Amino acid sequence: MCGIIGVVGAPDTLGTLLEGLERLEYRGYDSAGVALAGAGTTWRARAAAGTESVAALVKECESAPMGFSTGLGHTRWATHGAPEAVNAHPHLDCSGHIAIIHNGIIENHSELREELLARGHVFTSVTDSEVLAHLIEEARRDGQDLTEAVRTSLLVISGAFAIAVLDATEPDVIVAARRISPLVVGTAPGITYLASDVPAILDKASAFYAVNDDEVVRLGPEGFRAIDLEGAPVRLRQLTIDWDLETAEKGGFDDFMAKEIAEQPEALRATLLDRRRRDGAICFDEMKISDDELRDVKRIVLVAAGTSYHAALVAKYAIERWARVSCEVDIASEYRYRDPIVEIGTLVIGVSQSGETIDTIQATREAQRRGARVVAVANVVDSSLAREADAVIYTRAGLEVSVASTKAFVAQVAALELFALRLAQLRGTLLERDVEAHYRGLHAVGAQVQLALSRRADVEAVAAALAGARDFFYLGRHVGYPTALEGALKLKELTYLHAEGYPAGELKHGPLALIEPGVVVLAVATDPSMHAKILSNLAEVKARGASVVAIATDDDEVISAVADFVLRVPATEPLFAPMVDIIPQQLFAYATARALGRNVDRPRNLAKTVTVE
Ligand code: M6R
Repeated sequence: MCGIIGVVGAPDTLGTLLEGLERLEYRGYDSAGVALAGAGTTWRARAAAGTESVAALVKECESAPMGFSTGLGHTRWATHGAPEAVNAHPHLDCSGHIAIIHNGIIENHSELREELLARGHVFTSVTDSEVLAHLIEEARRDGQDLTEAVRTSLLVISGAFAIAVLDATEPDVIVAARRISPLVVGTAPGITYLASDVPAILDKASAFYAVNDDEVVRLGPEGFRAIDLEGAPVRLRQLTIDWDLETAEKGGFDDFMAKEIAEQPEALRATLLDRRRRDGAICFDEMKISDDELRDVKRIVLVAAGTSYHAALVAKYAIERWARVSCEVDIASEYRYRDPIVEIGTLVIGVSQSGETIDTIQATREAQRRGARVVAVANVVDSSLAREADAVIYTRAGLEVSVASTKAFVAQVAALELFALRLAQLRGTLLERDVEAHYRGLHAVGAQVQLALSRRADVEAVAAALAGARDFFYLGRHVGYPTALEGALKLKELTYLHAEGYPAGELKHGPLALIEPGVVVLAVATDPSMHAKILSNLAEVKARGASVVAIATDDDEVISAVADFVLRVPATEPLFAPMVDIIPQQLFAYATARALGRNVDRPRNLAKTVTVE
């Protein structure tokens, strides 16, 4: 989720880049850097200062030489390699002439790095991106011009990328390309720009063009030309951009929450990329716990808060089902103070989007103090939780700005389920062909999420029909229960309405007394093995006058008998369903909040990261 900017032909190259980077900080800010090329030299500056990275880079650039008309800038959201200056982009080749910036993940970087090292290349970072600089260097040495060198280098790359490359020995040229990660080109008389996002160049360019997957673009001051990966010319589609700067930062959405809801397929894809070694073993970012230790784990305790707690609850079902390890989930702020039992073989997993939630950090510290090994599942690279843990699995959902967490949830469930599959591989509790089937199934969830997102209008209609309701009960069974908890949390934080999540079977043990006309009951009814029971629960609440909304699969023909409103989702493996079933619930909370005039990005009384107990 890094930000990219490039410019050729501008009178103030450096100023253009730095201004663009300031506008791209919402894509990531672990570190920032620029490279300028001209007259046979490439000049580079980089800085890593957390949220102050771009400001620190501006200081670094005070000593920049003048007179360069070609430049690249990058603001990083770390995936491979800690957010330190050495891992900041641009990366250079061995000659120091070629500079590259990259957004995305190169899946086969380890193999490529080994091959390049064997051929004598020297690496100065631990990023996946640097392999590209050295591949392009080799192609240039073979006599290819920069465009051809980039094109042929990309033929051996797998994964996602938006890249831009310059070379001081071919000045006044930038070559850019994309697969999956976004990239736009902008033009103005005598100047050509490129950027990961329009805001970076919104007030500079007068026309904007979208680069498609597997297209390579050569930019010069006079304009650009594009080819596909076979070298055939292609035309870029011109974009109609009538946004102001604020709208552009939100990618054309009204708020960050709408943008982040829409980004969930991408968050899933990024989280699942590059997770399998050649021998089939599922692998993670930093795993300082040996396979033997993981195999011998006797008990797993997940600790987390809020949405992350709900993702952890889903994980319990997957870990127990697939890996057959006894698993508990604790609210982080409770775990620490209840004199927890940690025995040999206890593994504690801290789950946190920010990696800075004090309750979760204190819980994992307590566990470590008592001798547990700790795995962090975090979205922010090098966050406190990640730094202190024995192993880290990063959810690569990208920067989440909206206080209410959305894309982090689906990414956490995916990452934790991958971990469950790894445990099952090590413990031999699943056949390898079943691991493979689940692994493929996980990769298919993004498309199901996309389909669920495309049904927004149906959800808005239900939200409009229920406008005025003040009490909501969210019900579910099995993994539908944590999904219901998460749906209720979204409605609470966004709308300030009363919403409670319950295991559907628990209803008759008390809460049923609250059901009366005017109350809305929303039920997650997608699991075939729980279906009959959920139908009975819904019949019970309907008989007492509640309005019933059911989240049901496309093939469910009987649900309408008990539900007043049905929100359809594609069917998936039940353990993957929370990632799909949460989508209409997020959209429902969002639509209701907007209708009530709430500030969806900044709900009252709440902070994005809770660093006090
Ligand atoms: O950064 P974390 O995942 O540790 O944050 C945990 C909770 O504070 C967070 O999920 C909170 O509940 C959100 N506002 C939920 O939308």
